[in-house]
This record gives sequence, C-alpha cells and structure tokens, in this order.
Amino acid sequence: MTTMKLILAPMEGLADFWIRQALTDIGGYDWCVTEFVRVNGLLLPPKVFYRWCPELRTGARTRSGTPVHVQLLGSDPACMADNAAQAVALGAPAIDLNFGCPAKTVNRHRGGAVLLDEPELVHQVVSAVRAAVPASIPVSAKMRLGNLDDALALENARAVAAAGASWLTVHGRTKVQGYRPPAYWDRIGAVREAVSLPVIANGEIWTPEDAARCQRESGCDAIMLGRGAVSDPYLARAVRSGERAQWPQVRAQLETFMQTLVGTGKPAQEAGRVKQWLNYLRRQWPEAEVLHQQLRRERTLQGMFGLLERLV
Ligand SMILES: Cc1cc2nc3c(=O)[nH]c(=O)nc-3n(C[C@H](O)[C@H](O)[C@H](O)COP(=O)(O)O)c2cc1C
Repeated sequence: MTTMKLILAPMEGLADFWIRQALTDIGGYDWCVTEFVRVNGLLLPPKVFYRWCPELRTGARTRSGTPVHVQLLGSDPACMADNAAQAVALGAPAIDLNFGCPAKTVNRHRGGAVLLDEPELVHQVVSAVRAAVPASIPVSAKMRLGNLDDALALENARAVAAAGASWLTVHGRTKVQGYRPPAYWDRIGAVREAVSLPVIANGEIWTPEDAARCQRESGCDAIMLGRGAVSDPYLARAVRSGERAQWPQVRAQLETFMQTLVGTGKPAQEAGRVKQWLNYLRRQWPEAEVLHQQLRRERTLQGMFGLLERLV
C-alpha cells in the first residue's frame, strides 16, 4: 500500500465532468483538475466556470467526494488574478495555473508552454493570483520542462516557488517533445531538488510499474496520471494496491458511463464520448479493441446498448 499522492490530470476535451466522475467513482485519486479555463482579458462570468467545472455546484467535489481544482490558462497577471478570485468565490478549493499547453492557438496568444520562455512573467502571474485569493486556498502551477528546450526548467520552477505557490506539477517533456515517449522523470527530479515546494511528477505513467519507476527516478511522492488513467480506469487503485483489475470490471464501468451520458447531449456527441473512451481503453485492453471495432459504426447510445446486449 503506497502513501503516494495520486492526482488525475487536467485534459481538455477528454477529462471533462463525465470522465472525472467515472474515474473518481472508481477511486484512488486525491484530487482532480479541470480542463483549462482560458482567460483572455475579461472577467469570465460564473456560467463559464460552471461549464468547465460543474462540480462547483456540488461543493467542488465529484459524486464520490473527490475535490476538483480549477485550472486557469492565460498570461495577463491582473486578469488571471481577477478570474482566480471569481473561481474561488464560486467555490473552487484550489487554483492551478497552466504553463504547459502546447496548442498553437493558445501559444499564439501568449498562453501555455510559451510562457516558459519568460520566467519573470510566470512569476508575475503566480504572484498576482496568489495575492488575489485567500491564504487558505492553494495556488499551484503546472509546467513542462520548457518550451523549445529545458534550459530554463529550474529558473521557471524557482519563479513559481518564489511567487508563493503551494506546489508545482512538472510534465517531464518540453513543448517540442509533445507527447512522444519518454518523459524525463530524472529531469523532474532535478527540478524537485532545486526548489523547496512539493513537486508532482507527471508524464508517461501507464502501469503501476511506471508509477514506481517514476517515483524512484524523480524522487517525488506525488504523481499525476493523465492518458494512463483514461486507458486503465483502475490505474490509481492498482498503483495503491498492486492489484490489476479484470476486463469485466472495466466493461461494467464503461456501461455505467454510458448510462450517465444518456440525455447529456446530441445523440452523436454522446456516442462520440463512448468511442473516445474506448479509443483510450484499447491501448491497455485487447477486449476494448474488439468492442471498439464493434461499436464504432453506432451513432447513438441506444444502438450501442442494443449491440452490447447482443454481445453478452
Ligand atoms: C487530450 C489532452 C488534453 C490535455 N489538456 C490539458 C489541460 O487542459 N491542462 C493541462 O495542464 N494539461 C493538459 N494536458 C496535459 C496532461 O495534463 C499531462 O500533462 C500530459 O498528458 C502528460 O501526462 P500523461 O503522459 O500521463 O498523459 C492534456 C493532455 C491531453 C492528452
């Protein structure tokens, strides 16, 4: 039994309310983080925060009681501060700041990973947000090792620490390294050694063995799980217990997920969400690959349920 902290990663377009609910129902997570809320010069109205974080309506916790932190992405310190204060007023228990997004549209507007070229600006954003919310509310940052290379990794981490952040998550790749394996867990370790605040290690953890190796190489006792968590919904529990789930359990979770999606969107969107999850599940489960082949032509949940019944 590990005492490691496990966090479900923010994943825009993937780890939304429904996936957060499904994964935290299964359990093993200390908290999760919303998809990024884009801050671009305006004080966002409450409805925007509720859209990205519907859990704000239920005490900022998922159905199973797992806390949900709100992530903001932007580069204007004053505007980030105002929006952080707004999120906290709506019930956010913690604010995370995104300095890692590689998307071109985001980077073009001076957001996400490109900010890692400007540690001074990183410092200003974190400082402004830290000053704008009560001391009881943690403010954290999430960064990659760098933008084009990792030369400024320690400087950025020190900037985050000096600004008073409560912890720092490091995805062990630069922006240009994208999502290509490996993630450089040893480099996360170098960052951890350079700062006194807690560092959460992230990147390329797909199995309990990966988690253990990441912990060893980074020296971090907190780990954030991203795509691996979606590919194996029991991953956090497996990291904690050492026991791997069996396919029937995963399939039952998928069916529960399908039930919860009924009536949440247009039929094709609902079916699309199921296909999206299956697309991740098939990385780890051969049975999911078979199911994916069978369900991919269905355009509605109804059709999928019918097919599943015939497959039993
Ligand atoms: C589809 C997708 C969307 C993502 N969206 C966000 C995001 O909104 N905010 C963020 O900080 N990181 C985001 N990330 C990065 C992840 O949080 C994580 O750092 C990255 O996937 C590496 O972890 P992994 O190898 O365990 O997936 C996203 C990643 C993916 C795959």
